[in-house]
Amino acid sequence: MKKLVISAFILSTTAMLLADGAATYNSKCASCHGANGKTAALGKSAIIAGQSSAALLKKLQGYKAGTLNVNGMGAVMKGNVATLDAKALSEVATYISKLK
Ligand code: HEC
Repeated sequence: MKKLVISAFILSTTAMLLADGAATYNSKCASCHGANGKTAALGKSAIIAGQSSAALLKKLQGYKAGTLNVNGMGAVMKGNVATLDAKALSEVATYISKLK
């Protein structure tokens, strides 16, 4: 029983993380990267759907820190992630990694 409760908790926590990631993605990212993450944003970015969440998180942290600039558009992304805290960044990275 205890195990069941714990796994139900873990499952619902994961679902909640995905829901928050989806809300962030749809309101702040989908306009450029596409609803499914398969659009080259502003004709410049790589396709983000399906990249690993660790790789995505690293890139987002780089944009936030202002140290990543792949195609000369890093400043655009810096603005997009400026207001996201560590938790929100990791939630949105997880969400994008699961886009198909
Ligand atoms: C105004 C359009 C725009 C919006 C909105 C936007 N992006 Fe981007 N994104 C870009 C551009 C342009 C690049 C390429 C930046 C560069 O030159 O490094 C990029 C790059 C990226 C990359 C790196 C892709 C790669 O593999 O090199 C990731 C990850 C990413 N964006 C995620 C996000 C997330 C998450 C959000 C929402 C919080 C978001 N973007 C919102 C335009 C946008």
